[in-house]
Amino acid sequence: MPRNRLAKSEYQRYKRMGNRLNFKVLPETFDEEDFLRNYWQKKPLLIRGNGKPFVDPVAPEELAGFACEDFIESRLIQSHPANGARQWTLRNGPFTEQDFGRLPETHWSLLIQAVDQWHEGVRAMLDDFRFIPSWRIDDIMISYATDGGGVGPHFDYYDVFLIQGLGKKRWRLGGHVDSNSALIPDTPLRLLADFKTEEDWIVEPGDILYLPPNLAHYGIAIGDSMTYSIGFRTPSIAGIIDDLSSEIMQELREDQRYVDTAPRVPSRTGEIDAHVADQLIGLLQERLLDPGKVSRWFGRYMTTPKYPDLVPVAETQLDPDTLRLALAEGLQLVKNPSSRFAFTERAGKAELYVDGHAIACPASLAGLLPPLCETGIVSAPLTMICESLLRAGDDGAALLARLYNQGSLLPDLEDDEDDE
Ligand code: SIN
Ligand code: CO
Repeated sequence: MPRNRLAKSEYQRYKRMGNRLNFKVLPETFDEEDFLRNYWQKKPLLIRGNGKPFVDPVAPEELAGFACEDFIESRLIQSHPANGARQWTLRNGPFTEQDFGRLPETHWSLLIQAVDQWHEGVRAMLDDFRFIPSWRIDDIMISYATDGGGVGPHFDYYDVFLIQGLGKKRWRLGGHVDSNSALIPDTPLRLLADFKTEEDWIVEPGDILYLPPNLAHYGIAIGDSMTYSIGFRTPSIAGIIDDLSSEIMQELREDQRYVDTAPRVPSRTGEIDAHVADQLIGLLQERLLDPGKVSRWFGRYMTTPKYPDLVPVAETQLDPDTLRLALAEGLQLVKNPSSRFAFTERAGKAELYVDGHAIACPASLAGLLPPLCETGIVSAPLTMICESLLRAGDDGAALLARLYNQGSLLPDLEDDEDDE
């Protein structure tokens, strides 16, 4: 059976359900429309838990295990008293058991990035956040902190839902800040020099704190504490212009040049008149702002994996007929948990974006793109969607083979199957 070695050894190793939450993270009373209208990207909101006991889907020991892997991004932040203030240190993982053994009792926080890619129970927390497009979600970072631990006063450029798990945390919120705000010097962390508390909350298991981008915040653990941060992709305008224009530049030739569309004798020969600026704006609009090209670029940009190495091409490339046969013989496919899927459908044209690739799809496949892109349980075999794609004919089989070959779909192997 064909396999994708890297994906198997890393993904299958961690393919686990953990404690799937048997309750919703957001309370029944949460009003999605009201939230989007009044809070999203605007102001913080403390959402008290739904009253049911919150059972963490992962244990602190499992997080420590993730922090020992070199393909999982982890950081350890410690703070020490210094001259009446606190001094912060940062270490990047991977860590060893000995590292953890040497830590003091208090004032440190271990952060593990993208745990949703490694743990089904954690990923399931995203189910409640479908009121925000899936391509906006970046990852779920988990922090485990000991008493007094935290990451210091800071702000993020993106929105975040901070779901409190184990223990309690005190959150002090400040005002809106930006990249001009003064930072504490000589620390690898971007910590705010002048943090002024405007709101002060203590959160308990199941409480959720939503913070918009650029809001100063400072969380401090009260006893041992775990926080699940759902972070979002918020590309910078500079990044958007840079990446879009580099892509468009690739199709431009040296002989495509500025032209005088309506030449006339100038009254002042040194003047660049308004007509020239209009002409340039028209030229840029025509080249840069073609709606089809912009949405294709954006689809590719937003589905670029957080860790591209975790979406390696399949070791054995399959043609559609071989894959069809393997599926008929019982091969099951699952989504690579590091893969990102999105689609567009406009003016009768459907386009699928997966892991930075744009795939134009015929009308016969358009109806299958929404379920294919649905965020869901990544370890659930895509049986129905595979059958539907194969029923749709050669285009469907070709799409499946392409997704398999580029590493976005993986064979669903049993944990105890060996590598050969
Ligand atoms: C934490 O979990 O303590 C930090 C998360 C954040 O501030 O973004
Ligand atoms: Co933050």
